[in-house]
Amino acid sequence: MHDLLIKNVNLANGEQQVDIAILDGKIAALGKHLNIKAAIYIEGHGQLASAPFVDSHFHMDSALSLGQPRLNQSGTLLEGIALWGELKPSLTVDCIKKRALELCQWSIARGTLAIRSHVDISDDRLLAVEALLEVKEEMKDYIELQLVAFPQDGFLRYKNSRQNLHRALDKGVDVVGGIPHFERTMAAGAESIRQLCEIASARGLLVDMHCDESDDPMSRHIETLAYETQRQGLHGRVTGSHLTSMHSMDNYYVSKLLPLIKEAQVHVVANPLINITLQGRSDTYPKRRGMTRVPEMLDQGINVAFGHDCVMDPWYSFGTHDMLDVAHMGLHVAQMTGLQQMQQAYQAVTDNAAKVMQLENYGLEVGCNADLVILEATSAVEALQLRPERLYVIKSGKVIAQTAPRECYLNLQGVKTPISFSKNLFRES
Ligand code: FE2
Repeated sequence: MHDLLIKNVNLANGEQQVDIAILDGKIAALGKHLNIKAAIYIEGHGQLASAPFVDSHFHMDSALSLGQPRLNQSGTLLEGIALWGELKPSLTVDCIKKRALELCQWSIARGTLAIRSHVDISDDRLLAVEALLEVKEEMKDYIELQLVAFPQDGFLRYKNSRQNLHRALDKGVDVVGGIPHFERTMAAGAESIRQLCEIASARGLLVDMHCDESDDPMSRHIETLAYETQRQGLHGRVTGSHLTSMHSMDNYYVSKLLPLIKEAQVHVVANPLINITLQGRSDTYPKRRGMTRVPEMLDQGINVAFGHDCVMDPWYSFGTHDMLDVAHMGLHVAQMTGLQQMQQAYQAVTDNAAKVMQLENYGLEVGCNADLVILEATSAVEALQLRPERLYVIKSGKVIAQTAPRECYLNLQGVKTPISFSKNLFRES
């Protein structure tokens, strides 16, 4: 007797009318017309069953703090950083936790079951570290949080960053962060990368740096990050987040850079919602989009994910932590509207993001964790088109969130007429 049998679902890879059997928190069987008895059945009706969404770049310590202590008047990155600095002195562990727990609920309801969150360690009290470690523990049965020690005010530029970084890692923060473009000079940025990679190497940890989040084509810290990754043998364990300066770089230089990123197996996370709103601010027209070169890196075989980055905080007044919104924006900004590219945009918030976080047993295959989401759409592309309801969110074989199907009626000449937005045009492909 299995714990759960999900009947007749479509998969993100295009397979249709598949059954999924779950036992002891794992996917025990997957195929057509499974003749298996289970304690609970879910009829999928040809809807999409997907591995859960994964947000590989987020800031949970600032999420949902919009308006505290005031709104960002200019909407710029720099005023956002200044605003966060104004808010920090009044933060408490309880208020950070309260906002983070609410954010986790939003994420789970929308089918996101793993988040990598950067945590600001430039506050010597390390309140955000304490709060998010508690949230990580309290929510571990529902959502996997991976925390990055993030020296927002610079690793070398802020005097206590080294000490705070080690304190945060000693407390249990998982990943070493950095922000080389915010150091005082390019040389200091490169030096920060070298030192941070050495700390990660000595501790056996992953690295994820905010890297080149600027429109300056000469901001080339990703080159140093790839070099140090290769030099210190950290292949596959390092992520470069944002890389927006690459948007503006010389094409010839990029043709040399991408193979170096590939060689070092550096993962890349672009943050389309934030990049399209914060970059290109000093341009008149033409105005740059600012997001890094996603299709070109995917073509090189570099693992590229999309992150949400911010939700209703000093930097971004929008967002409900829906990774389908992120993929939708990402494919628009990168012009990834080819059929295969739309699939890649979906992978950027699922499989690719799971690779960034090095999640174990992730995916819809026999032996993987029974973590999945059933959406009110028939394919991955239709999910991007409709950004539909997440009918069931399942963690370790248990339904942890449910949303009723969307219902919409028109009143036409007094007659109540149901309408459906589903067109299912991509099914045959
Ligand atoms: Fe970020």
